[in-house]
Amino acid sequence: MTKTILRALAGETLPTPPIWMMRQAGRYLPEYRATRAQAGDFLSLCYTPDLAAEVTLQPIRRYGFDAAILFADILLVPQALGADLWFVTGEGPRLSTITDAAGVAALKPVDAIHETLSPVYETLRILSRELPRETTLIGFAGAPWTVATYMVAGRGTKDQGPAHAMKAADRAAFSALIDRITDATIEYLSAQIDAGAEVVKLFDSWAGSLKGQDFDDFALAPATRIIAALKARHPGIPVIAFPREAGPRYEGFARATGADAVAIDNSVDAAWAAAHVQRDGCVQGNLDPRHMVTGGAELVSETRRIVEAFRGGPHIFNLGHGITPDADPDHVALMIETVRKG
Ligand code: CP3
Repeated sequence: MTKTILRALAGETLPTPPIWMMRQAGRYLPEYRATRAQAGDFLSLCYTPDLAAEVTLQPIRRYGFDAAILFADILLVPQALGADLWFVTGEGPRLSTITDAAGVAALKPVDAIHETLSPVYETLRILSRELPRETTLIGFAGAPWTVATYMVAGRGTKDQGPAHAMKAADRAAFSALIDRITDATIEYLSAQIDAGAEVVKLFDSWAGSLKGQDFDDFALAPATRIIAALKARHPGIPVIAFPREAGPRYEGFARATGADAVAIDNSVDAAWAAAHVQRDGCVQGNLDPRHMVTGGAELVSETRRIVEAFRGGPHIFNLGHGITPDADPDHVALMIETVRKG
């Protein structure tokens, strides 16, 4: 009996959509906060395989999600390429910055990444032993554009201004940065698959700020290259792409990149996505994460509306973006019950 997530990714329309949740291991869960305190800080949690596996398993034990997503972070790849990385409590990530061709040239070669990232592979090996047999194990990486926005700015930004500025000032140097991240991402995801990941997901959280030719060059082209390389090395491993806030560019994204599924953020209307995106294959999404904070009748009616909208094709139920730390764990249980019992 094939796992439900893999059946949906293969294009099967199921009577009840399988379900998991972005950031399902996170600060809204008391057991996550306890293990994170034991680790000391967020990066130590990412790099300690026993603890990273433990937090990955916590939401599976509590809720019985159909998939577990590796606990790690998209910014481990820049660190593996030689950037300094640290997290400021209450503020978010900080990195050393890259602003020109010399900065790109100074990055470590792609072969060197496994030295830093090998604990992540160990986490996946533990998880493939310990997960329930029906639960799918998802690995992930940031998409090159999103990772580059952090490497150039040295932090999260509202409009990705520094990355857009570098792209405008020296497109060749910026393209070289994207290429280096693309090559590293292929090796990283390939090693995750060797370690037990059954599906991989590419998070392009800032895809929405790329327009026109820039979207083609820095969102579509790198995803296409990563997916083609993974499919050549690991036939049959499905890939989920998440070009967040791509809006109309969601249409045709799976066809252009070879992705098996597209994750839809909550700014997109589910009925539109069913008509324009789901006709190319599986979609994932797209409940607004704020319902995990507010709960109640609106959570139930919005969950039902999304299940209904995507009922005619392959669908994996999920949020449109990660669950937030102020969410109520009981609201997550209500969402799951609504999806599974109607
Ligand atoms: O989905 C999952 O549960 C898997 C684990 C995961 C994390 N981050 C854990 C995490 C995944 C897939 C990510 C992806 C990620 N990380 C993205 C892309 C997806 C998205 O949300 O848009 C981005 C942009 C990052 C970078 C990042 N990591 C930021 C901006 C922050 C700080 C913001 C925050 O919520 O504090 C992080 C930290 C982070 N990554 C946390 C978690 C659980 C919180 C850390 C903590 O415990 O303090």
